[in-house]
Amino acid sequence: MDFINELKMKQDIVNKHLESLMNVENAPKSIVEAMKYSLLGGGKRIRPVLGISFCEALGGRIEDVLTFSCAIELIHTYSLIHDDLPAMDNDDFRRGRPTSHKVFGEAMAILAGDSLLNYAFEIMLNEVVKNNCQPRFVHAAKVISNASGITGMIGGQVMDIQNEDRKVNIDELIVMHSMKTGALIEASCLIGCIIAGREDKIEDVKEYSRKLGIAFQIVDDILDCIGNSEKLGKMVGSDAANHKSTFVTILGLEKSKKFAKEYSEKAKSIAHTIDSTGFIPALTDYLLNRDY
Ligand code: IPE
Ligand code: IPE
Ligand code: MG
Ligand code: MG
Ligand code: MG
Repeated sequence: MDFINELKMKQDIVNKHLESLMNVENAPKSIVEAMKYSLLGGGKRIRPVLGISFCEALGGRIEDVLTFSCAIELIHTYSLIHDDLPAMDNDDFRRGRPTSHKVFGEAMAILAGDSLLNYAFEIMLNEVVKNNCQPRFVHAAKVISNASGITGMIGGQVMDIQNEDRKVNIDELIVMHSMKTGALIEASCLIGCIIAGREDKIEDVKEYSRKLGIAFQIVDDILDCIGNSEKLGKMVGSDAANHKSTFVTILGLEKSKKFAKEYSEKAKSIAHTIDSTGFIPALTDYLLNRDY
């Protein structure tokens, strides 16, 4: 398997579907433009790639999970628009371009985030209805709803804001990372398993994705410290400027790298038992060693 080729192919499938989902009529052009600016202007598409890869590895059809996977990308993109707002991390660059509020103003950026969140639920429910409300489709929508909310991503973002200027311990940090970033990554993987109809693998996929989610955010924290802004498409040093509690500020760089590697390796060993093609294990390594 040529991993990079396979990754590009999957990113292409996702990008095409995202574009087709954004052919919206009967909405003000300005809001669709702002949604597209953030959604279609870059991003690694890791969450939807995980969704379609798990579905495929477990014997499901990519087209059955694709809209749900794209719904997660919409929710993720909304979380980035709001995360960058002056009231939150106050960042000016994202995905290699000025942030939404810099281009459209704060009010439209807030609305673009709201719109992506709501539209994610619209496309998910359309998909549920299209599939005659079969339980696996309803279950996937429920998993995504829970992961996005106050016990998942939003809850983690609340902790992130409230932990500014506080020295938190490592256990608190792991909980925060699992929620703000891990929850959507876990949902991304789980829906692949659910849509493939492989309830027998749910516990393994949960374990894999929980380890990956923590590793992913630790690497994000490391890159905020030693990454290259041009490559990352976002400014480095944002966490320090905002007095964030991150793995790097609490444990230092070397220990953080060790932590990320440990979590990633545990994830990879589980991935080998799920995906015999080797793509998901290779993706796990790629996400650990990434520089953007
Ligand atoms: C950035 O996520 C924010 C986190 C949750 C760590 P990604 O690194 O997946 O960002 P994009 O989607 O590629 O821009
Ligand atoms: C963001 O974490 C997590 C979200 C849910 C958006 P960060 O604030 O570290 O993400 P970046 O570094 O701005 O992408
Ligand atoms: Mg943040
Ligand atoms: Mg941020
Ligand atoms: Mg960060």
